[in-house]
Amino acid sequence: MTIPQLVSSFVPCDRTRPEIRLALLGLGRVGSAVAALVHEPFAGRPVPMRIITALVRTERRGPSHASTPSTTDPSAIFDGDPDVIVEALGGLEPARTLVLEAIRRGIPVVTANKSLLAHHGGELLDAAARAGVPLRYEASVIAGVPFLGMFARRPYASRIHSLCGLVNGTTNYIVSELDVRGGDYLDVLAEAQRRGLAEPDPTKDVDGIDAAEKLCVLLRQFAARAVRPEQIATTGISRLHAADLVQARELGGTIKPVVAAQWSEASVTAFAGPAFLPSNHALARLQGAANGLSLRDVEGHRLCFTGPGAGPRATAVTVLDDVVESLYETPAPALTVRPASSAAPETGWFVRLGGAAATIGARERDALLEREGVGVTRSTDRRTCRGLDAQWFVTRPIEQSRLDLALRALPHAHTGPILSVRTLDADV
Ligand code: HSE
Repeated sequence: MTIPQLVSSFVPCDRTRPEIRLALLGLGRVGSAVAALVHEPFAGRPVPMRIITALVRTERRGPSHASTPSTTDPSAIFDGDPDVIVEALGGLEPARTLVLEAIRRGIPVVTANKSLLAHHGGELLDAAARAGVPLRYEASVIAGVPFLGMFARRPYASRIHSLCGLVNGTTNYIVSELDVRGGDYLDVLAEAQRRGLAEPDPTKDVDGIDAAEKLCVLLRQFAARAVRPEQIATTGISRLHAADLVQARELGGTIKPVVAAQWSEASVTAFAGPAFLPSNHALARLQGAANGLSLRDVEGHRLCFTGPGAGPRATAVTVLDDVVESLYETPAPALTVRPASSAAPETGWFVRLGGAAATIGARERDALLEREGVGVTRSTDRRTCRGLDAQWFVTRPIEQSRLDLALRALPHAHTGPILSVRTLDADV
């Protein structure tokens, strides 16, 4: 277990300050929500806040930003000595360079940027710890549920050995809609975009990249491992059919877009993608855009959190609490984080055989699969469900490469739509 090292160079802040002066990087969806929240009257606000400058890409500004002074010059964000920098640009650059410069100048930074943390978290957090400057990122994972900072300050409670999470609201919403209402994946995605629940370019969400980046943030926090996002075995949701959700129920579970990981001193196994969860799994009932996280601690207890994971408003609330904490709370002990590689775990599989491949009888199928080392534990008959002619079954744990070989050896395997998603046990 990693031993936390206390950051000793932190200089306590001035508790008598009359107001908190913010420099806000970015006035997109999150930045605008932060600006709106700063301008809202709030009787219980501990200290008044003011945005002294906002960095924008172009000078065009909507009416909601009328009272926010802005600049297109990145170097101008340090003019007027802001108390805290709020990074809401998203992406890697110029966010990384500006955060490093803020730390160099001793200015606390708050960000919700999981890409930045997944790709450059080590560099930024090391720089912040060396300088004794707070760098807070509570809103980067499950934005509306403040848990990262709490665990960071409580190292004994943080002795976790595995986790499973639904950390992407967009894909949980799409998969829930496919389950409850049926319909075509692309239609459900288009409806999510119309309702503002999916980005105009949804690639990072539906391909699992956003979830893999958030998993890297979680692994840093709970496993004290620096795993790069591209090392996480990642699958998207675009191959799911509404029929898979119905048949998953028939087989005793449901399909959810998850991140899952477990670790020991020697290794980390992790993946991001759709998974079959038994119906008694702690996260199986989470619907819509809700997020959830289930942690297993070394004492054998399960700790669970659910709540809003996305949305400008929920993110802005957490960002502004980070601002307050960055000025009034002593930073949490810095973790000693080791670089690590991550392998895909050996899991069971939920498999759909479609088209001509579905015509195989259960006995022949099981015998052919058994010959390749794949054990089937339960299955449906061939049927037409929500317009898809297929059969579905669940296997015992086996490596993906061996499953793929076995499936390819089935008659007509190349003709029909075959899908395989990992299964998780209820205690994961
Ligand atoms: N696109 C992300 C989601 C936003 O849907 O969860 C919050 O990180």
